[in-house]
Amino acid sequence: MTVKKCLFPVAGLGTRFLPVTKEIAKEMLPLVNRPIISYGVEEALASGCEDIVMITGRAKRSIENYFDRSFELEDMLRKRGKLELYYKMIRISEMAEIMYIRQREPLGLGHAVLCGEPVCKGEYFGVILPDDVFINDDDPVLSQLIKVHERLGGSVIALEHVEDRDVSRYGIASGEEIEPGVFRINDMVEKPKLADAPSRYAIMGRYVLSPEIFPLLHNQQTGAGGEYQLTDAIRELAKSEPVWGVAYRGRRFDCGTQKGWLSANIQLALEDDELRDMVLDILKKD
Ligand code: UTP
Repeated sequence: MTVKKCLFPVAGLGTRFLPVTKEIAKEMLPLVNRPIISYGVEEALASGCEDIVMITGRAKRSIENYFDRSFELEDMLRKRGKLELYYKMIRISEMAEIMYIRQREPLGLGHAVLCGEPVCKGEYFGVILPDDVFINDDDPVLSQLIKVHERLGGSVIALEHVEDRDVSRYGIASGEEIEPGVFRINDMVEKPKLADAPSRYAIMGRYVLSPEIFPLLHNQQTGAGGEYQLTDAIRELAKSEPVWGVAYRGRRFDCGTQKGWLSANIQLALEDDELRDMVLDILKKD
């Protein structure tokens, strides 16, 4: 009863990052020294997942290319004696088994997850929204969710306690706390007004989902923002199967917004032994 597959829905339009995302996948923006997407892939692998399934769309080809071999580049690096870089490039393409499924139209996160049905049918699977970057080197956040699934069965979502002013930006979940930091979820609302929010616990971009989510996604109506919302399907799922909410341990950087992405770059660069002095130097100049 463990989780071997992990879905990465990356077919969104990334409107908060326009005009950059007109042609560039936001998942390929650099976070210190590698693309945002690679943090999520490393987290999935460190959590025991073996198969990575990306739900992609237009303007996302660079993600596929990033994880493929690049013979021309490798050949050039080898011929010029840049062997350290050469092996680094090879390691990226050998990181994981990655499959790609196209979401033809960005109809919402619920619809993107439904696109993964052909490969995830019949088994529990993980979901990582890669622009939520989580840092916990001791115990990756997806692994925390998988452990709860292994112990209690059912689906699991990651929760974070948020300020009142942020409630309407997220899906909000509520339930009974059955042990410290673990809730049995009984209600969820996508982007509620503060007055309608059932709690202050927001759903963050990591999930372990039951395959029973697929029939619910098939029968779904559009919800908030006119999109097929994953939150609505999980709320339905919670009526027939346990859905646990876990107040995760670790740090989160919201790299889906310009402010979050910039602040993640600054904070993580300040924690990097090789970059710290250089960044401090740059910041001191103003
Ligand atoms: P977001 O809500 O962050 O949307 O999607 P977005 O399109 O990426 O960015 P904004 O809000 O327009 O700036 C959450 C996750 O769901 C994926 C996104 O790629 C992101 O990883 N998604 C969203 C899809 O794969 N397909 C969709 O139709 C919608």
